Amino acid sequence: MTDDVLAVHGGTPLQGQIRVRGAKNLVSKAMVAALLGETPSTLYDVPRIRDVEVVRGLLGLHGVKVSDGVDDGELVMDPTNVESASTDEINVHAGSSRIPILFCGPLLHRLGHAFIPDLGGCHIGPRPIDFHMQALREFGAVVDKTPEGMHLTAPNGLHGTKLELPYPSVGATEQVLLTAVRAEGVTELRNAAIEPEIMDLICVLQKMGAIITVHTDRVIEIQGVKKLHGYKHKPIPDRIEAASWAAAALATRGEIEVLGAQQADMMTFLNVFTNIGGEFEITDARVTRPGVTGVEGGIKFWHPGGELNAVALETDVHPGFMTDWQQPLVVALTQARGLSIMHETVYEQRLGYTEALNQMGATIQVYRDCLGGTPCRFGRRNFKHSAVIAGPSKLHAADLVIPDLRAGFSHLIAALAAEGTSRVYGVDLINRGYEDFENKLSALGAHAEYV
Ligand code: EPZ
Repeated sequence: MTDDVLAVHGGTPLQGQIRVRGAKNLVSKAMVAALLGETPSTLYDVPRIRDVEVVRGLLGLHGVKVSDGVDDGELVMDPTNVESASTDEINVHAGSSRIPILFCGPLLHRLGHAFIPDLGGCHIGPRPIDFHMQALREFGAVVDKTPEGMHLTAPNGLHGTKLELPYPSVGATEQVLLTAVRAEGVTELRNAAIEPEIMDLICVLQKMGAIITVHTDRVIEIQGVKKLHGYKHKPIPDRIEAASWAAAALATRGEIEVLGAQQADMMTFLNVFTNIGGEFEITDARVTRPGVTGVEGGIKFWHPGGELNAVALETDVHPGFMTDWQQPLVVALTQARGLSIMHETVYEQRLGYTEALNQMGATIQVYRDCLGGTPCRFGRRNFKHSAVIAGPSKLHAADLVIPDLRAGFSHLIAALAAEGTSRVYGVDLINRGYEDFENKLSALGAHAEYV
């Protein structure tokens, strides 16, 4: 028996209640922000996932004392003794996450130099870092690329600047925020990403003493300050995980209440969910668990019976339909009557996972053209970034190998919706972003065990 191969016995509707905690894509960035403070920071509701462990390890290497707080999910980060780490130690984390790139600005401010290993993250296309590097250079950083990674220095300090991103990249916007808050002078960032996780990071930085103004039309202005202090923060809930469970409810004809899910961050998803024929209710549930007794908000998602409707969709930056919602929802769309279209406009290679769904009986064809919406950056190039999903299809069990985090969860959902027993290989990858997913699955009545 390993903890990497799961036998999933499909065909049972998922039913019950689970809870999501702080958003992976905020928590990891807020942890990096703690490096900028001169006093300790506390984050609450931190999920136990691999990406958090990676950032914890990197903070530790740089002298930040990270410890568990009193409550479950509480993390205390003390940056009073920030120090340089050796490239060998940092390289242990090479390939494990994309977050190290965000250490550049904070380390340059704290130590005057930074070393960034080869990056990892999900294999969903080339995922370049040119916007990050260009922005850092404009702040005054000098980047020296070596075979082992990137060495950065700032011989004349970091200075505020005017920047415009070629595309509203989440990571590059975070890079600019984490660098500009302590750069000398004012920074104006145009074409910034405005995802809820970015707004929450701005809240964290403001709590630390940063002065950041979000103007209309994706313009963010940051007034650099000399010092920042620690923060206490409860992150926004994980809207990607919440949507993943919602899609699982739809695909398996079940009903899942996701405690902690927040309507405001999921409006676009909820509209699509309704158009497909799913139903939801914003709930206030009475909860009792260690340390918490009371009412907790959430969203209950269910399949109301009958047939689902096909839809035409495209992924986009916020406030559009998130690229990370796409893969789990496509599994549900295999059960809808008619032709659905999914145009992926954020990543050029994020539809490869559909091959596994076809192996299970789905009918999904991928195209290079921009189908069903506005022409995007990937049109007329060699990227298969549009999918047509014909349904409904009866899914049957198969052996599946998990390719990346979100596609991996969609494989799991497909296996749960299919007739028979599937073997899902590489499930450990799901621990990168879904806390305790095996126990959540069993709480929802899924039949699955490690083999
Ligand atoms: C973040 O990735 C998330 N990761 C991703 O979630 C998410 O899919 C993505 O934002 C979009 O919402 C984290 O927050 C850790 P981007 P990020 O920079 O910041 C291109 C998950 O499963 N680009 O907004 O890396 C890039 O290639 C992950 O949780 C450049 O060309 O995404 C992509 O096409 C997967 N040059 C587009 O911009 C650059 O320097 C958007 O990427 C940077 C990005």
